[in-house]
Amino acid sequence: MQLPDEAISYEYQAALIPASEEWTPVAELRSRHFLNPVRLRDLGGRLIQIRSQVAAERDLQQVPPEMQPLDAAFMDFPQKLLDQQRRKNEDSILGRLLARATKLKEQSDRVVVLGIGGSYLGSRALFEALKSSYHNELPAKNRLEAPRIYFEGNNFDNDVMQELLDMLQENCVDPERREERWSVIIISKSGGTLRVLHRDAVEYYGNRSERLKQLFVPITGPTSKLRDVAKAEGYADEDIFTIPDRIGGRYSVFTPAGLLPAAVMGLDVRALLQGAAAMTRRFLEEPFERNPVLQYAAVNFLMAEEMAKPIRVLSIWSKKLEALGMWHDQLLAESLGKQGRGPTPLTFVATRDLHSRGQQQQEGARDKFINNLVVRTPRTPPIMVQMADRNEDELNAISRKGYPDLTDAALRGTNQAYSEAARPTADLIVPTLSEHTMGQLMQMLMLATVVEGRLMGINPYGQPGVEAYKRHMKGLLKG
Ligand code: PA5
Repeated sequence: MQLPDEAISYEYQAALIPASEEWTPVAELRSRHFLNPVRLRDLGGRLIQIRSQVAAERDLQQVPPEMQPLDAAFMDFPQKLLDQQRRKNEDSILGRLLARATKLKEQSDRVVVLGIGGSYLGSRALFEALKSSYHNELPAKNRLEAPRIYFEGNNFDNDVMQELLDMLQENCVDPERREERWSVIIISKSGGTLRVLHRDAVEYYGNRSERLKQLFVPITGPTSKLRDVAKAEGYADEDIFTIPDRIGGRYSVFTPAGLLPAAVMGLDVRALLQGAAAMTRRFLEEPFERNPVLQYAAVNFLMAEEMAKPIRVLSIWSKKLEALGMWHDQLLAESLGKQGRGPTPLTFVATRDLHSRGQQQQEGARDKFINNLVVRTPRTPPIMVQMADRNEDELNAISRKGYPDLTDAALRGTNQAYSEAARPTADLIVPTLSEHTMGQLMQMLMLATVVEGRLMGINPYGQPGVEAYKRHMKGLLKG
């Protein structure tokens, strides 16, 4: 059940032209760079029609060629997983997944998540948002026995891969000891394999050993080269987790691709799914006034397409959401960057990047729309500024303020400064960081991207442009 104060919201009033503003040079600028509420109202009918279209796409059995690819199954999948678990318990996908995660946790103290793009960015976003920033350095009991987590396989950086191998070799000498065992979750929907770690695992655990199979878990599409390789290695079907058809990589965080790593980290995957399912319901059922998906899609669509703001800044006010920003970069860039169009996503971590990009946002080209992503309440008690005996830094005046007060003042001050310079902003508010709010947030951004794609007349699924470099690269390697 979703408690009202756990619900995320989108506050976009600061992006609208203020009603009855007296003429000043800045008001004049605002009238050119902020949204006219009438435009938003005018879009209402089309938005509701697009919502019906997007809802109907979920049920299409035969997809006509002009609509392909159509990967709309991500919308209902969270609820389907929850329902199936209620019916089938440990025989459900979630039941199997949780059992497998428990085994991995019991059997190894280091888990490498191998994957690229949508196959790892979602679980990395969850890891950084919901686990300690120093998780891997904590003693096992403080990690609640969850293994250390590493993300690799997303680059061909020889040195980084070698450093990972060196680190594993240095720490893992005796495969009989749990603390010295490492495991791999290899994720690829299409199924390109990474041989390097497999060879190392074979050397460490022995070829075709039962332990090797337990500690090397493939997650892939219903048919793929990775599945073929796993089968040839002797994996049974139930030992391979599946990213279903009709769910694309960047929409796959609430499939085993994101959920198995999340469960291994010790996250509450049911709460994640409940958050995501609640957001799908909200999207399908709520009117515009209570529907953050429709609000976000509409405001951002109009800013990009009608107000000439092609750069979309996701200004993140919690460093723990920086990886969420990387995930969002891919979601937006691959979904909408087509046919010579699409907003350019830019992740900005505040307050850090106020001291690098802040100048440009305040006074540079007027090509940006800024969405602040705000976490209202931190999970830990406030750290206070405190009194100092000599007060050379003159901070005693704010000694009773805590870090959250400083962040809040910086956010409000920045918004005010932007507004005074006629730079539009909106706030996406997350009450606090939890599995339930992360489920809502990620599902909301995925749904809004689909709605925006449909508003633009662009297919938000598929990424045909990414194939071009792969073709050339393969040709060059074979040549
Ligand atoms: O969104 C997508 O589908 C892609 O960006 C994929 O996530 C990415 O290319 C990784 O693909 P795969 O899981 O097939 O290795």
